[in-house]
Amino acid sequence: MKLGTKSLLWGAHAFYLHPFMVARGWWHLWGAPRDAKMWICFLMHDIGYLGLDEMDGEGSENHVRLGAEIARWLCGDRYADECYRHSRLWCRLNGRTISRLCLADKMAFALTPAWLYLPMVKASGELHEYMERSRDPKKLASYSVEELRLIRSGRPSEWLRGLQMFTNRWVHAQVMTDPAFFAPSNGREENPPPKPAAG
Ligand SMILES: [Fe+2]
Ligand SMILES: [Fe+2]
Repeated sequence: MKLGTKSLLWGAHAFYLHPFMVARGWWHLWGAPRDAKMWICFLMHDIGYLGLDEMDGEGSENHVRLGAEIARWLCGDRYADECYRHSRLWCRLNGRTISRLCLADKMAFALTPAWLYLPMVKASGELHEYMERSRDPKKLASYSVEELRLIRSGRPSEWLRGLQMFTNRWVHAQVMTDPAFFAPSNGREENPPPKPAAG
């Protein structure tokens, strides 16, 4: 079974847990998510991991597409845009800014307890990839000394604590410094939503 499918079934993106952690992340940042259409985005945004070989490798940014197009069909362009822009890599490659869903998604990671997260990513086989990628030399300068010490640890619990500390700090920095994220109603819509891929 492909890694992306395992992630959706019992890993970091488990369909019965991750969407609710994203909702919790949203709540943490902006209060209760009352927009029913956003709940479709919480549920669908990562569904495109189905059948993918890698979680963060080349082409993995396209995992946003399936959920975004389902959101477009059910809820409209604005919600498709929210889903497309939940991936920082997709945004970088497409010259777009991240969405509120992106920050809620990252906050979900920072809020997930280790006792829940670690057994799941060990069982799915994702842990090794996530540990490796967090130690990419290009990322090291972003970490504080303490975060770096923990992220370099061979113990998954310490690694997770370090990466959650960093993620929590990064998300709050975005919310506090970017007016687009001060309140849910101020979501960025300066760029037109992407067109569905041809074919
Ligand atoms: Fe995602
Ligand atoms: Fe997600």
